[in-house]
Amino acid sequence: MINQIKESIKSELEFFIYNEFQTKIEIGVEKPKNPNLGDLSVPVFSVVKALRRPLPEIVKIIQDQLQLLTISSFLAEINSVSGFINIRLNQVYFAQAVIKEYQSAKNYGESLIGLGKTIVIDYSSPNIAKPFSVGHLRSTVIGNAIGNILEKLNYKVVRINHLGDFGTQFGKIIYAYLNFGDKEKVDKNPIEELMKLYVDFHELAKENPEIEDKAREIFKELELNNPEYVSLWKHFRQVSLEEYMKVYKILGVEFDSYDGEAFYNDKMQTIVDELKEKNLLVKDQGAMIVSLDDDLPPALIQKSDGSTLYITRDLAALFYRKNTYHFDEVLYVVGNEQKLHFTQLQEVVKKMGYSFYEDIHHINFGLVLQDGKKMSTRKGKIVKLIDVLEEARNLSLNYMNEKNPSLENKEEIAQAVGVSAIIFNDLKNFRSNDIDFNLEDMVNFVGQTGPYLQYTSVRISSILDENIMDINSIDFDLYANEASFELIKSIDEYQDILLKAKEDYAPSVLAKYLLSLASYFNSYYAKEKVMVDDLLERNTKLYLISIVRHILNDGMKLLGMKIIKKM
Ligand code: ARG
Repeated sequence: MINQIKESIKSELEFFIYNEFQTKIEIGVEKPKNPNLGDLSVPVFSVVKALRRPLPEIVKIIQDQLQLLTISSFLAEINSVSGFINIRLNQVYFAQAVIKEYQSAKNYGESLIGLGKTIVIDYSSPNIAKPFSVGHLRSTVIGNAIGNILEKLNYKVVRINHLGDFGTQFGKIIYAYLNFGDKEKVDKNPIEELMKLYVDFHELAKENPEIEDKAREIFKELELNNPEYVSLWKHFRQVSLEEYMKVYKILGVEFDSYDGEAFYNDKMQTIVDELKEKNLLVKDQGAMIVSLDDDLPPALIQKSDGSTLYITRDLAALFYRKNTYHFDEVLYVVGNEQKLHFTQLQEVVKKMGYSFYEDIHHINFGLVLQDGKKMSTRKGKIVKLIDVLEEARNLSLNYMNEKNPSLENKEEIAQAVGVSAIIFNDLKNFRSNDIDFNLEDMVNFVGQTGPYLQYTSVRISSILDENIMDINSIDFDLYANEASFELIKSIDEYQDILLKAKEDYAPSVLAKYLLSLASYFNSYYAKEKVMVDDLLERNTKLYLISIVRHILNDGMKLLGMKIIKKM
């Protein structure tokens, strides 16, 4: 609603000035820096300058004209202070309009900007037989939230888990497995055991470097479809994927495709051919490279032994996705450390002459820190994700045992709170920043945490559960106070927030908004007595807080958090 009001002020004033003075002047409508001055403000210096008339005259002309706008009934007070015309909105009319919009919306906050457009998101993408790192957790959480937000804006979203299921590490693992592996152990605990084999291989290779050559040979044969190796590779991939699925299930994350690097094995030659044809591929010390402009190091496409590289597979994946999904944008949710890789990918596509290079976005993110150090390498140990999720659940459970020991389904709720706490802790900061990982802080009900949002929603639910609410008996006059007005303005802002989150590919925009909505609710609840005897008044207040709960829950769901009824 606020946007319609701003737009009406701007366009109608511009039209009026043009008609009256035959001069085109751009009018800005802003939020005053000092909120005590009003809700909106129109700077008039540019008008004074362009028309060369005294300030008081211009102020008078514009003030008079504001009274004649189509939306003038929304303007309660108009004042001028040193070159600015400040406007206070009519809180009752504004509330009425916002709530009407809310009531008539099928899916409040949605937008049609995405209609008919497709966005591919490449996220999570762990490497088989290597740990699912906290970096992969970040990718999973951020990618999922962006996907949900895009869907809310009516984009068609294709979610792809670009599994790291190919590469020389498979030669090593297969060698190790065949020589000193234990099938039963691997089947029981695939990720950990495969990793152990990988580590053991490297230990052995220190004394026995020739096994490196054996591993390379095995990998070569795997590429040539040696049936024994292929079947082992398939098996390792399958058991690892099953393990990942457990994590995805806990997080509530799904994918449309698990086509990983191996999927593109037979799709790289056409890319190499096209690069050759376009004279982009040059020989450099036996290897094939594409040189790039702007001080970028060249993209290494083929090693001297003919084997292909990460970027070659990414090129094949990119063209496959373009041809299969006809995307309007493709997003790669991958850590800051791969910035160069994605810049090179984009540059190669540009050199090939495809304009869609502009639709390739590296959605980068920072490290996870614990006590100021990079988490995954803490004490040289690898953090196991399942264990972290478990720990979060246990901490939440302790918290609940303290706060609400008689709660039913405590375990289940603790799980939902713990997981959501981790998700929210990740998403509340702009993604390219490093984040702190302190489980104790995350699961706290107070502070800028996931549980704080869930708790606010639960608090509203418990008030609503005790009452019968009638949405047809509302007295809008009762919304004329600051505490209600803050809530109404926030409610009105929801769609803008989602659009902004899309623009920056930043779930943090939504996360921060939800924190402020929750805190507006909490101060509203502290100031305004909701459980009053007067039924009309009570109903009016209940209705407002029911909208707040709706948006809180909707927003939390978009972030990938769980909605809780009691805690
Ligand atoms: N598996 C890679 C890693 O863990 C991430 C893959 C990202 N996606 C891509 N298309 N390159 O580093």
